[in-house]
Amino acid sequence: MTEPGVWLVTGGAGYIGGHTVARLLSEGRRVVVLDDLSTGLAHRLPVGVPLVNASVLDTDAVAGALREHAVSGVIHFAAKKSVPESMADPLLYYREIVGGTTSLLTAMREAGVGRLVYSSTAAVYGMPKQGIVRETDPAVPISPYGHSKLVSEQVIREVGRAHELSWLSLRYFNAVGADTVGLADHGASNLFPRIFRAFAQGRPVVVTGGDFDTPDGTGVRDYIHVGDLADAHVAAVHRLERGPAAAVLNVGTGRGYSVLEVLAAFREITGEDVPYEIVAPRAGDPATVIASVDRIAEELGWSARRDLKEMVASAWAAVDLPPPSPSGPPHLEKV
Ligand SMILES: NC(=O)c1ccc[n+]([C@@H]2O[C@H](COP(=O)([O-])OP(=O)(O)OC[C@H]3O[C@@H](n4cnc5c(N)ncnc54)[C@H](O)[C@@H]3O)[C@@H](O)[C@H]2O)c1
Repeated sequence: MTEPGVWLVTGGAGYIGGHTVARLLSEGRRVVVLDDLSTGLAHRLPVGVPLVNASVLDTDAVAGALREHAVSGVIHFAAKKSVPESMADPLLYYREIVGGTTSLLTAMREAGVGRLVYSSTAAVYGMPKQGIVRETDPAVPISPYGHSKLVSEQVIREVGRAHELSWLSLRYFNAVGADTVGLADHGASNLFPRIFRAFAQGRPVVVTGGDFDTPDGTGVRDYIHVGDLADAHVAAVHRLERGPAAAVLNVGTGRGYSVLEVLAAFREITGEDVPYEIVAPRAGDPATVIASVDRIAEELGWSARRDLKEMVASAWAAVDLPPPSPSGPPHLEKV
């Protein structure tokens, strides 16, 4: 039997990258991580995983790592991911995300590496008209973050047409949860961390919008356990190793949960009351965004396995709440 190829994981010290590195190692594969540690944490990486501490913008460093470790494919997670930050500093986002992708592709060409899994996002769809979003639906991003991801997808597609590049761009929906405390997300701004912050500060969870056209009036989103997301990357690696591919794939569960359903799951898992307050919706927030997952099931034979309870329980087990203060607001104890 031939040994599985070595994969370079950019952003492998991050939240999703860290989970994916662990999954790749568990199947006996050799992995190299390239990360500038701008938001990543070196201690997310198991002992023995080589870490190249460099930016993907440093084409020579990337090409050197690809050659030195005889890499056969790349998973490209490394990026900034804050929509508000991208609005405040669009140039930073285009430079890092589009510039990072072109730098990586240049290095891959130089080193003769022809397989790529790219981290894209549901943000490329902007404000979808239908609740269930298909890969063939119009991609009309509403932030520099979403735009720069879409442009990167296009660059990859065109390089794939012109040169020997086999690729899969994965559009993730809302990644949540954690496999271990060490791999938990510290930089997220989605609903789950907002709930934890409200817990920690002893204030109600702010729910933006209670009058949407959804069963209970609150927004519905497709949350996906980060462990399932990591498994999708392993399936993508296997697919690229089987033969050429060029596809954009949604990665979600295909099932949406409303904010109130998420709060009910938190109530059930923590055994605590979860007070909330409904305020006006945020401008541009769609009522429902759920991934159509037919294409990824067909292309990769992958589908998500973990349900909302597992997502909430794993996020709760991994969260690091600050200690209660005697003079501060009532504090939620973990049970
Ligand atoms: N978390 C989500 O819900 C979500 C949803 C859709 C898409 N994504 C995409 O998934 C990828 C990973 O996100 P995450 O949630 O793990 O974020 P993260 O911030 O935890 O991980 C990003 C990693 O990339 C590294 N990095 C950033 N810029 C770099 C650069 N120029 N050179 C080298 N390393 C760099 C960081 O240090 C970090 O380790 C990103 O591309 C993000 O846009 C995430």
